Amino acid sequence: MDCHTRSAYLFKQTFMDHILSVIAVVIIFGLAVSLLVFQGITGVPPMSSCSGEAADVIALLKQAGLEEQAIIYELGCGWGSLVIALAHAFPQARIRGIEMSPLPYWVARFRTRHLPNVFLQRGNFYKFDLQDAQAVTCYLMIKTMPTLAGFLDGMLNPGTPVVAITFWFRGRDVTAERNGPGLRGAAALYYWPANGDAR
Ligand SMILES: C[S@@+](CC[C@H](N)C(=O)[O-])C[C@H]1O[C@@H](n2cnc3c(N)ncnc32)[C@H](O)[C@@H]1O
Repeated sequence: MDCHTRSAYLFKQTFMDHILSVIAVVIIFGLAVSLLVFQGITGVPPMSSCSGEAADVIALLKQAGLEEQAIIYELGCGWGSLVIALAHAFPQARIRGIEMSPLPYWVARFRTRHLPNVFLQRGNFYKFDLQDAQAVTCYLMIKTMPTLAGFLDGMLNPGTPVVAITFWFRGRDVTAERNGPGLRGAAALYYWPANGDAR
């Protein structure tokens, strides 16, 4: 390779490296912006529940005596951590996760690709029909809970178990709660509408 060809080759390589770096930065920046935008829309950060919190949710759902093939909705399933724990704990159940934010949704899709009892959908869970729900789980934010309570009032069959992590429903009767050791949010079980009516 003569000197001229070699410098042309090096220039081309450097240029390609530069283009690839710019593309990588744009993609990473776009993903970060998308996380912030969807957090702004929902008012809820995409924070995963830890394994202890998932264990508490599972214990409360077991206490509720779900049918083996129950349909469980995970509202705002984020990166899929709770969905995965539920799918392992209730292998016959049908776990339906709904997530609005694209990046967590696609990561959750990837993480659950080998779990046949998981079905994930992207969108706003307020726009979904949950009338076939036999249980509902959620880990959202304090501001979201009153709106979600009203939505579940119009959607769920009386007596449907609902488990909320960390942020609970104000003014609704908690049937059972779990608050294991360590830094984690407590989980509460309700039999919806949980407003003083008998189960
Ligand atoms: C704190 S994360 C919890 C993730 C998951 N449930 C877990 O326990 O690992 C809450 C998620 O709910 C999603 N979310 C909030 N409101 C939503 C809505 N109306 N429709 C769909 N997803 C929503 C957010 O995008 C966020 O990813």
